[in-house]
Amino acid sequence: MDHQLPGHLAPVPDEISTVDLAVTGTLPTELTGRYFRNGPNPKPGEPVRHWFSGSGMLHGVRLREGRAEWYRNRWVRTNKVERFREDGSIDFSGGVANTSVREHAGRVFALVESSFPVEIDRELNTIGSHDFDGRLTTAMTAHPKEDPDTGELHFFGYSAIPPFLTYHRLAADGTLVASHEVQVPGPTMMHDFAITEHNVVWLDLPAVFDRELVGKTLPYRWSEGYGARIGVMPKTGGPVRWFEVEPCYVFHVGNACEDAQGRVVVDAVRYDRAAWMTLWPSIGGKEDPAEHAASTGTSKLHRWTLDPATGQVSEQQLDDRSVEFPTLNDLRTGKQNQFLYAVSHADLVKYDTASGATQAHSLGAGWHAGEAVFVPAEQARNEDDGWLLSITTHDDPEVPSRLLVHDATDLAAGPVATVHLPRRVPAGFHGTWIADEGENR
Ligand SMILES: [Fe+2]
Repeated sequence: MDHQLPGHLAPVPDEISTVDLAVTGTLPTELTGRYFRNGPNPKPGEPVRHWFSGSGMLHGVRLREGRAEWYRNRWVRTNKVERFREDGSIDFSGGVANTSVREHAGRVFALVESSFPVEIDRELNTIGSHDFDGRLTTAMTAHPKEDPDTGELHFFGYSAIPPFLTYHRLAADGTLVASHEVQVPGPTMMHDFAITEHNVVWLDLPAVFDRELVGKTLPYRWSEGYGARIGVMPKTGGPVRWFEVEPCYVFHVGNACEDAQGRVVVDAVRYDRAAWMTLWPSIGGKEDPAEHAASTGTSKLHRWTLDPATGQVSEQQLDDRSVEFPTLNDLRTGKQNQFLYAVSHADLVKYDTASGATQAHSLGAGWHAGEAVFVPAEQARNEDDGWLLSITTHDDPEVPSRLLVHDATDLAAGPVATVHLPRRVPAGFHGTWIADEGENR
């Protein structure tokens, strides 16, 4: 059955290339590089069973020395494979590669959590499925974490069949140097994770694989009996210390770190059960429609504090807004950070997690704010010295999208530059900034 996507998520039918884009305001000259953003964009005639399952499309904007040189959009050209082989194993070389885009060791990858990465070039052409010289034997999450001190890329793959969870580490030069199976009770949908200085943080939450749903929609549903656990594991591998938490779901982590007492602090957007029951059917997942109609849940920024010395865990809601797509200055990944950024419908939001203060910029009625990617300023002295890049989408399909550039130190002042894109860009998932060699990143 086809699922009808709402206006701001509706796909575009073709690929275009445009040069010399109009800009309102002043683009910082130091932003010389490429902003790439990924998201589902079913091809014409492609059935839509779930928002998450459409073919991946990349949108790119080339900025150079104060000018917006080009926009282009390209589908990620992935292999057509039979996912389940006759022997029951899974072929990870196909898939939709529709979730995020990341550069590591000079290669750019389009990522989806159910498949191998797909390498692309800097003009958005697909190079092909990549398995790190045959060493990667699981899918790769769309949310790898780069350690800012070592340049290593930590990631994982989860699966509907054993091994359910595997931890991997890429060296700074792009070599896959470690893979460890991690024991979890069942096949959960693990979209994101976190690293700290010494540890990896796992989210073992009750969105569980259901074989009955294979071929109908994304085969995951809320499990009343699965429980919910956050796990802390040394980056070197070894046993996981699990902490039981109130059942919830987390798509995205803002950051995690170790505090002065050795506790692990995790900031993430938490969906309570009601929020899951509202969200999942609305984007194509099958849950009880009657319950869907009655649900009014929230996805709010939360903090879990896990104390390995005592086994205690505490949980704190940090804000009342319903938000998604938390981001930060990636140079603080796994370390104590003061600032997080997020989107709340038409608003871009900045959190000062030390003081509890927030700042917001509202795009106005009908607009949807895309994930705000933080790019450090050239001469940055403070954590929030930098720029926030976000593609915005309007409900009206005739209204072209915009790439907004905000000064992250003063989000409420509004954008310093607006790049007028030549078409609507459907609201999607995750973007990245790829600086030219020698530029700020
Ligand atoms: Fe994501």
